[in-house]
Amino acid sequence: MLYEKEKQMHLHKLQTYDEMSAAAAQIFSKQITEKPDGVLGLATGTTPIGLYDRLAEMNDSGKLDFSKIRTVNLDEYCGLQPDHEQSYRFFMEKYLFSRVNIPKGNTNLPNGAAQDYDAECKRYDELIERLGGVDLQLLGIGNNGHIGFNEPADFFSGGTQRVKLTESTIQANARLFADASEVPDYALTMGIKTIMLARKIILLANGGKREIVERALYGPITSQVPASILQVHQNLEVVICEEN
Ligand code: PGA
Repeated sequence: MLYEKEKQMHLHKLQTYDEMSAAAAQIFSKQITEKPDGVLGLATGTTPIGLYDRLAEMNDSGKLDFSKIRTVNLDEYCGLQPDHEQSYRFFMEKYLFSRVNIPKGNTNLPNGAAQDYDAECKRYDELIERLGGVDLQLLGIGNNGHIGFNEPADFFSGGTQRVKLTESTIQANARLFADASEVPDYALTMGIKTIMLARKIILLANGGKREIVERALYGPITSQVPASILQVHQNLEVVICEEN
């Protein structure tokens, strides 16, 4: 029998990482075809790399056009220049932007190298508003239930803000740095409210995230598991696979 919650969300349970990436690419492809000048909310991390590979292939073969698409990313580390190899700007250029026909000026991330973080958060919120909000927001999930860099907290956050990363996030992300001490302690992240205002959300997670996905989607809604708020989003696609 289906859980009540599964009736509200669209759940795609796949076996392999490739199948998960292909299913997510179909959702993106439909969105881009239906609204070629739409706003995509993008995410970094190892989970969406297969999806980005497919979007690049579809663009290459002429099936998808990114020339009018606008993008806003979820987050960026504080203190890293955009050309730093571990910055999320660098990641996005490498895995998606340089591989599709999107004008660089249409791509946006919070500026982690900003002098004034409060002003930068305000700029980012105003930018998202000026773009008309996010049509399709991609999310991964942290082992602690974070979405973007919204870590477990006493309340759900609002707009873009500077956050201190938890030790578990620093340890999880250390694999991409020379060692954990090089992982920045702070990041700028789109807030939960902005994420929830996206007209459609796609949550992507592989088998290694099974336990936290289960807690987020079927457990109590609590800011201690930030992704649990997704249970009340009206247009949520969950794309998961068994493979790690
Ligand atoms: P991952 O990160 O895709 O590298 O597992 C997801 C996240 O922390 O949001």
